[in-house]
Amino acid sequence: MKKRVFSGVQPSGDLHIGNYLGAIVNWVRSQEEHDNVFCIVDLHAITVPQDPKILKHRTLENAKMYLAAGIDPKKSTLFVQSDRPEHSELAWILNCFTYFGEMKRMTQFKDKTGIQLGRNFTLPDTSDRLISNYDNKQLIAIIREIEAEWKNSDTWRIQNKRKEESISVGLFDYPVLMAADILLYDTDEVPVGDDQKQHVEITRDIAQRINNKFGKVFTVPEPVIKKEGARIMSLTDPTKKMAKSDQNENSYVLLRDDADTIYKKFAKAQTDSENVIKFNKEKKPGISNLLNIMSVATETKIPELEKKYANSNYGQFKADVAECVIEMLKPIQAKLAKYDKDEDYVRKVLKDGAEAVAPRAQETLKRVKKAVGLGL
Ligand code: TYM
Repeated sequence: MKKRVFSGVQPSGDLHIGNYLGAIVNWVRSQEEHDNVFCIVDLHAITVPQDPKILKHRTLENAKMYLAAGIDPKKSTLFVQSDRPEHSELAWILNCFTYFGEMKRMTQFKDKTGIQLGRNFTLPDTSDRLISNYDNKQLIAIIREIEAEWKNSDTWRIQNKRKEESISVGLFDYPVLMAADILLYDTDEVPVGDDQKQHVEITRDIAQRINNKFGKVFTVPEPVIKKEGARIMSLTDPTKKMAKSDQNENSYVLLRDDADTIYKKFAKAQTDSENVIKFNKEKKPGISNLLNIMSVATETKIPELEKKYANSNYGQFKADVAECVIEMLKPIQAKLAKYDKDEDYVRKVLKDGAEAVAPRAQETLKRVKKAVGLGL
């Protein structure tokens, strides 16, 4: 029997090459071998404020992207999450078997909200001075100390309090809805980028917990994270992942960007001053990111690329990376133009998809309700 695959993308921003190379391209490449369900997770998108019109636009846009990238509705089912009410219903049940402490530890929540010492908070002034004076190990210890001190301060308490006032409970609960998405379809494999690993792991924990309590209710899924492409980094700050939510447009390449824009973005990509094209994530994050992008885009191994560019300068290399990405996106953009003219077709694919997955979703939900003792 074919393995069951489930994955999803949030319509919370325009898709970028990180989404494509980290996730979608792998779905397309293994489409034949699996029984695939792909979802546009609009319920996840509303965990942060959304403009209703833009959200609808992006939901359709995401569907066009999936199709243009090569998801074939004859081989894979594609639908919008909110079209299947079973996702929310299962999420509620799973909520009651998920612990507050577990959710509090989810890094994505911490990153997005800045609650705890996340990205949105800067360390107190002293950190700048410290960085130059100590080695890594000492620095970690010192940062821990500062963190503890900082968390004890009134400023931290006030800032955190303010944050909490404007963060939805949905954002906190986001991984449980994701667990519901996955478990609803008896999923064996979840192909995602590196950043979603923790969410698939919590899904496994919740599934196992319920299975231990009530007998085998759920299939326990495995995350599938390809080494290459799993973490495409920002072009302007290669120590951060490429993200739709980034305020700096030069940090990402969108699937709809034209050739000129792509050349410009890569030309501005942050590198180092060494002028040596070698993969070294720690010492040369910028060049390593570009090598990684080129490697996945062209399906060429990184050592081969290092050899090819042994005598090139960064300018030439960046232009070539841009060229590869432009070539990779050309057929996708041509198909996008086709779907732009035939949105009714795209809507129909989504509607048919939601109907096609209904029996599976309903069957799972019935099984869970029975196991837990809901209804008569
Ligand atoms: P989202 O919408 O943030 O991202 C969609 C997919 O793209 C991957 N990705 C990346 N991969 C490599 N490099 C990057 N810079 C990069 N940025 C994003 C993500 O890992 C993801 O695979 N919570 C999910 C959506 C979701 C889901 C699910 C996924 C909801 N339910 C069930 C799988 C199964 C999310 O926010 O993805």
